[in-house]
Amino acid sequence: AVERTISIIKPDAVAKNVIGAIYSRFEQAGLQIVAAKMLHLSREQAEGFYAVHRERGFFNDLVGFMISGPVMVQVLEGEDAILKNREIMGATNPKDAAPGTIRADFAVSIDENAVHGSDSPETAAQEIAYFFQPNELCPRTR
Ligand code: CMP
Repeated sequence: AVERTISIIKPDAVAKNVIGAIYSRFEQAGLQIVAAKMLHLSREQAEGFYAVHRERGFFNDLVGFMISGPVMVQVLEGEDAILKNREIMGATNPKDAAPGTIRADFAVSIDENAVHGSDSPETAAQEIAYFFQPNELCPRTR
């Protein structure tokens, strides 16, 4: 089915100047960017986005990292977009990520792992609504 998912290019990858290289991976996989914005998240925005991880030991470091520089947030649309994006991102820990995946090629650690992607249809809907108003989505008309 055609799905939408959130993708975030994290501060480490923005700092490495690989936004375009990562966008190419999405396009090569047949995913369309139907919305995008660059943001420097506030602490409150980052804490709210990752609220599900609030009790985890890595939460404070995660939030600190996510507000350390700008991020690029996009909505990807396509057939099986949620799983497809997770496949091209690779495993959460870059050390476990398959060769040729975004995290294998652009990330160095589980804390600074270049990209985030929604993990289910429910979280995708929540995460899209967290960053975008409905009228900010621009599906293709041609
Ligand atoms: P992300 O998909 O953005 O979701 C939460 C992030 O927490 C995750 O990617 C990792 O970058 C980070 N993180 C740090 N330590 C861990 C851990 N032990 N397990 C899962 N995620 C972790």
